[in-house]
Amino acid sequence: MVLNIEEFAKFCKRKGFVFPTAEIYGGLAGFYDYGPLGVEVKNSVKQQWWKFFVNDRLDVVGIDGCIITNPKVWHASGHVESFTDIMLLCNKCKNAVRADHFLSEKYGVKPESLNLERVKQIIKEKNIKCSCGGEFQVQEFNLMFKTFIGPFQDEGSKSFLRPETAQLIFANFKNIVETSRLKPPFGIAQIGKAFRNEISPRNFLFRMREFEMMEIEYFATNLECPFFKEVSDLELQMLPARLQEKQGEPVRTSLKQAVSNGWLSEWLAYWIGVSVKWFTRFGVDINNLRARQHLSEEKAHYATDTWDIEYKFPFGWKEVVGIADRGVFDLSRHEKFSSKKLRVFDQAKGSLIPRVVAEPSFGLDRAFLVFMFEALSFDKDRNNFVLKIHPVLAPFKVAVFPLLSNKEELVEKALTVYNGLKHEFPTFFDASGSIGRRYARQDEIGTPFCVTIDFQTLQDDTVTIRDRDTTKQERLAIQELASYIHKKLRL
Ligand code: GAP
Repeated sequence: MVLNIEEFAKFCKRKGFVFPTAEIYGGLAGFYDYGPLGVEVKNSVKQQWWKFFVNDRLDVVGIDGCIITNPKVWHASGHVESFTDIMLLCNKCKNAVRADHFLSEKYGVKPESLNLERVKQIIKEKNIKCSCGGEFQVQEFNLMFKTFIGPFQDEGSKSFLRPETAQLIFANFKNIVETSRLKPPFGIAQIGKAFRNEISPRNFLFRMREFEMMEIEYFATNLECPFFKEVSDLELQMLPARLQEKQGEPVRTSLKQAVSNGWLSEWLAYWIGVSVKWFTRFGVDINNLRARQHLSEEKAHYATDTWDIEYKFPFGWKEVVGIADRGVFDLSRHEKFSSKKLRVFDQAKGSLIPRVVAEPSFGLDRAFLVFMFEALSFDKDRNNFVLKIHPVLAPFKVAVFPLLSNKEELVEKALTVYNGLKHEFPTFFDASGSIGRRYARQDEIGTPFCVTIDFQTLQDDTVTIRDRDTTKQERLAIQELASYIHKKLRL
């Protein structure tokens, strides 16, 4: 049984993964709070991303920039001018909808091909009206949240909540490069909140107004990627713009072949490969991922080429990572607006603005959705949901139970085992309900191992350890438990 997004949201609420924000006041569209289990998964996703893309690499460093920064950043970046979606605003009932969503769902128009003029033309040609009978005004809507800094609420104190983390990397470029003594090619990474005043937030965590991003700006002065070989043989479904224009289907191909077809640069192919590997490392089936190139109308104002990694959600193939070639757009603009040099030294070429050859930009909440959707299924034999999430991402790694909750000596021994494990891993203790119910509860929240203390334990200090995915049980000495679980958590 595959859950749709509404059923999935209900599951997440019921088990304590994610709640509508401040639900006692009716929630707020586009805002969600992570609960006790969700925060554990989300933190693990962040840690694993940081480890894989920053700590395990010599060429990437990290920063943690501000959510609110000098507003000049957003003028320089082009967001004040161009970070817009097209909105249809009813002149009668004031209903506002996002034009691309509305026209694709109701009129089958390809959303990627829409610009302001085209939307106006379609609304006119098809005489499209609001359901209340009112006329639609077509306008661009800037997605940045505005705020004021300090005691005065005037133009001079106006600023914005950041709509992407990337700009803090560009604005700090000089300080980062000088203090870290970076030589191209190198990357600068950041994880943090971003805010977009989405016209129509939807699909639970998929399109929110407050969300989290995990981004890298990767700078190079050469177009060849020295690490391409590491991923060049990786095969995945790819959908270049030229195939989309001919209504073609995605083709399964190696990244090497895609580059030699002229579909994309080595750098973009490399970062697609590495990003896909990060998902598959944690159990995502590569057949549920594909790389799709943006059509020219779809590209952001800063991008010369962009590929999305999309996941097969129950509501269709949707973007989870955007990987853009931003060229020298951002650093040149910041040089111009700040009058500060933002350059690196290249042995062959001298002082120059390095190119952002790839910007792997992951939505953390979308990555959370991917790992959860991939893992969750209903097991008919067990008659409960089982969350087969990778053990490294599971909220609890192990649960400890006394076989019977009314036998003091079993409970006491189980608590001793629990106390021994809790410093090693997030560990759960449960002594309530039948042992079957306790297993089912842990299956539903993804705990990979359940340890049961029974009467034999009191004789020989051994326990049973049950595997969430197979339900098979083994007997182990208590002193072997920690190393057994550590081994299973090794990547
Ligand atoms: N700096 C590049 C950038 O901002 P983007 O494609 O607009 O690119 C990057 O966003 C990623 O952020 C997306 O691939 C998606 O995973 C996530 N994202 C964007 N808007 C989102 C929203 N409203 N809610 C949740 N995640 C979002």
